[in-house]
Amino acid sequence: MKDKPAILLVEDDEAYARRLGRNLEMDGFEVEIAFGGKAALETLARASFDLIITDVKMPDLNGMDLIEIIRREGHPGVEPDVPIVALSSVNSVDTAVACMKLGAADYITKESERPEIVLRLKKALEQERLRTENRYLRDQLAQSNEFNEFIGESEAIQRIKQEIADLSRQAVSVILMGETGVGKELVARALHHLRGAHAGPFVDVNCAALPDDSLIQSELFGHEKGAFTGADAMRKGKFELAENGSLFLDEISELSRNSQGKLLKVLENRTFTRLGGTREIKVNCRFLFATNKDLFQETRSGRFREDLYYRVNIYPIVIPPLRERREDIAPLARFFLSFFCRRYNKPVKKLEPRAFDRLMSHPWLGNVRELRNIIERLVIRAPGEEITAADLVSCGLALEPGRSGTVILPPQGVHLDQLEEDLTRQALERAGWNQKKAADLLGISVDRMNSRVRKYGLTHPSWLKHKPSLND
Ligand SMILES: Nc1ncnc2c1ncn2[C@@H]1O[C@H](COP(=O)(O)OP(=O)(O)OP(=O)(O)O)[C@@H](O)[C@H]1O
Ligand SMILES: [Mg+2]
Repeated sequence: MKDKPAILLVEDDEAYARRLGRNLEMDGFEVEIAFGGKAALETLARASFDLIITDVKMPDLNGMDLIEIIRREGHPGVEPDVPIVALSSVNSVDTAVACMKLGAADYITKESERPEIVLRLKKALEQERLRTENRYLRDQLAQSNEFNEFIGESEAIQRIKQEIADLSRQAVSVILMGETGVGKELVARALHHLRGAHAGPFVDVNCAALPDDSLIQSELFGHEKGAFTGADAMRKGKFELAENGSLFLDEISELSRNSQGKLLKVLENRTFTRLGGTREIKVNCRFLFATNKDLFQETRSGRFREDLYYRVNIYPIVIPPLRERREDIAPLARFFLSFFCRRYNKPVKKLEPRAFDRLMSHPWLGNVRELRNIIERLVIRAPGEEITAADLVSCGLALEPGRSGTVILPPQGVHLDQLEEDLTRQALERAGWNQKKAADLLGISVDRMNSRVRKYGLTHPSWLKHKPSLND
């Protein structure tokens, strides 16, 4: 809250309103007056207030109706939960009480002494502050339960931990990059947590989960009542919900060009309007982004706007795949073992040395998430005290890392030739179109590779230059 609480005073009796307004200003409030319920709605649509005081009896729209509209029906641009104090003459106390049933915080009679009025207003404001704070504490609590420790002894993870700590006092935007399952969301939550007790909530949006532009935009911007068919109440968007906190935009590369443009504008202006609205609302949150694509590549190929790229890519943190920091496998495995043994109420199990070796040599294409899932299954399914290499296999770890043997035929079957063509192409791509390396990846001879390449007509521009013989 600002140092001077902003009050909207709604009162049709002009003389009384001006007098009370002046008094409240002398008591340190900022006061704006609306001479009637309808005028109040107009004022509320263009500015926000910390508190509303409304007369109960007014000719055009009375206090009770005003409260009902704000709280229940919603009005474009008007915050539904702003605290409201009813103002009554002594003979309308019953109505004032009815106002409280509709959600007013208190009622004051017009005969009250000035100190009494000020006290009641301060109480209402304090109540609201506590309510917001409670909501925030509840969020924090919920998050700290799901917030895992961030495990890792590799240089890369140590460095990232240090970066998280260094960034804790700054609200700079951060982008987290890395393959699926490396821990991008975990790092985003850690960044949010370390911002400390004054921060608002952690709000996340998965840009890939929302199929079309209008959905993602109404999710981010919110909408006014009646903005589109089905919008029967005002809804705050994630930009607003993340106020003073962090907005985590996950899988940012999946935004359409159109939504990318909209986001760019918000990042540039730091303001936005709800869909169907006109009021500019300030964005007051820290942005955290994540992607498992190479965003620079996406920009070069034109799928991601270059101007947005530079707005998003301010402070990148790259989390390497687990196979490039094998020293993290053991501590992670130990951590997940004790975590899941506790969760499933089992005595803590150990890994037999050969099982441990298997874990160390596995490629972990699903990264930490894959390791976590396998350990969870092991804890549930492995019968003995010690987890064996055989247990690993029966829980889905590849027999021989990097070789097939665990490919499971899907129920609907496969098209073997197509699969062969697919795998050959993938191997070539991964090997940078080097046929020898690609053949190694598939465990076949170069000759056999060469015959697949001809069979499926696979070719790469670079072969034209270097190996014209392949292009017969
Ligand atoms: N260093 C770590 N220490 C402990 N747990 C971790 C670590 N890294 C990842 N995890 C756990 O692994 C799982 C996957 O992590 P997370 O969801 O953060 O991955 P991600 O990079 O966001 O993946 P995706 O791109 O698929 O969304 C989570 O359960 C997370 O808690
Ligand atoms: Mg994620």
